[in-house]
Amino acid sequence: MEKDLQKSFIDQVSYFDKDKIFENMQNFQEVMLMYNCAVKEVRTKFEVLNDDLSVAHNRNPIEMIKTRIKKPQSIFNKLMRKNLDISMQSLKENINDVAGVRVICSFVDDIYEVAKMFISQDDITLIEVKDYIKNPKENGYRSFHIIVSVPVFFANRKEDIKVEVQFRTIAMDFWASLEHEMKYKKDIENADEIIKELKNCADIIASTDLKMQEINKKINSTQN
Ligand code: GTP
Ligand code: MG
Repeated sequence: MEKDLQKSFIDQVSYFDKDKIFENMQNFQEVMLMYNCAVKEVRTKFEVLNDDLSVAHNRNPIEMIKTRIKKPQSIFNKLMRKNLDISMQSLKENINDVAGVRVICSFVDDIYEVAKMFISQDDITLIEVKDYIKNPKENGYRSFHIIVSVPVFFANRKEDIKVEVQFRTIAMDFWASLEHEMKYKKDIENADEIIKELKNCADIIASTDLKMQEINKKINSTQN
């Protein structure tokens, strides 16, 4: 059994051409550094927007910003899953979520406002929009996703790097974390029941988010 596994691993390695993998690995760290710089740049843009809105308009639309770089193993798995070339070129062209930024807002309206301000900045190129708030997924998942490209200036060159930005309310984020946890657990008892309960929670959260937004508007329409 163990021998079989070993054999199949060796087969896979030769299939992918060891020399090619080694050459790619040398570039890999450099590419990951580029994505890391893009994430830092995008984070700063949202921090600046939030600071500006809080000073000029006494508002704090962004509660939190989370960032992550996709792990090498997940990148590799995704390329394999999609039957794509295992190369830096293929990674840059086909994988849009190597660099990820999550912007957590208090209210749904803030999501659209902050996203619009960000997208309209003249160094940001919008590549794709997926509005899972207006069109929630069947399981109840809600978030506003965009893929953008941002220029990063290095010592002697400029690179346009893709970044995935997910905008969510605090409640949507809370829901997505729990749902994500379930997805990665195998053999959960009563999985069907849990899926139904999660969907129900997602709907309650969506209506509570809207209610909270209405209340906030009422509170803030009373100036003093
Ligand atoms: P991937 O190839 O998996 O990245 O999907 P996609 O390219 O169709 O992108 P999509 O915009 O649908 O989802 C991208 C990311 O959103 C995922 O990697 C998750 O972080 C998040 N996401 C999407 N759907 C769900 C969901 O049902 N539950 C949770 N918890 N997160 C989700
Ligand atoms: Mg993804």
